[in-house]
Amino acid sequence: MLIRAATADDVPSIRTLEQQAESAAHWDEREYDALFAPEAPARIALIAADESDVRQVRGFVIVQCALDDWEIENMVVAREDRRLEIGTKLIRELLRRAKAAGATSVLLEVRESNLAARRLYEKLGFSDYGRRSHYYQQPTEDALLLRTSFAVP
Ligand SMILES: CC(C)(COP(=O)(O)OP(=O)(O)OC[C@H]1O[C@@H](n2cnc3c(N)ncnc32)[C@H](O)[C@@H]1OP(=O)(O)O)[C@@H](O)C(=O)NCCC(=O)NCCS
Repeated sequence: MLIRAATADDVPSIRTLEQQAESAAHWDEREYDALFAPEAPARIALIAADESDVRQVRGFVIVQCALDDWEIENMVVAREDRRLEIGTKLIRELLRRAKAAGATSVLLEVRESNLAARRLYEKLGFSDYGRRSHYYQQPTEDALLLRTSFAVP
């Protein structure tokens, strides 16, 4: 599995994966197209793709990059490719890039019931630092706030 930066050509594949994943954040086409607009907030989108065909998208993660805190906004691995460490590889590469860029932490919100995502993040060093009551709709549910911080040298 190859982890690479997304390009505008990946938007249709990203949208297909996102629409198949109930627990993902759901964005409209404009929001995805805006990812690559010059005036957009700084974001990184990483793609997990087949080594033999880099256009075959198996998963993605999208992160908003502020100076200190990077925030994971969305992540999906294709249903048929789950439990193959693709999510792990995406997050490891994201953490590597965040550290290299001088960020001090990476944050995210996750539905309390999303045990797959919670376990993945916990395994990679994230821990709870709060909750937002009734943050999600359909169904209404609390968000857990997770974070991993890097030691400042
Ligand atoms: C969450 C998600 C991205 C995980 O991707 P993945 O590639 O399957 O994850 P990995 O194979 O790297 O799993 C790493 C670890 O996470 C945990 N994990 C992953 N899926 C799990 C599941 N269904 N149940 C319990 N633990 C799970 C396990 O500890 C796993 O390690 P193990 O397989 O050695 O036990 C994937 O399930 C997904 O796309 N879900 C739908 C979208 C979503 O919820 N996105 C997150 C929004 S915050």
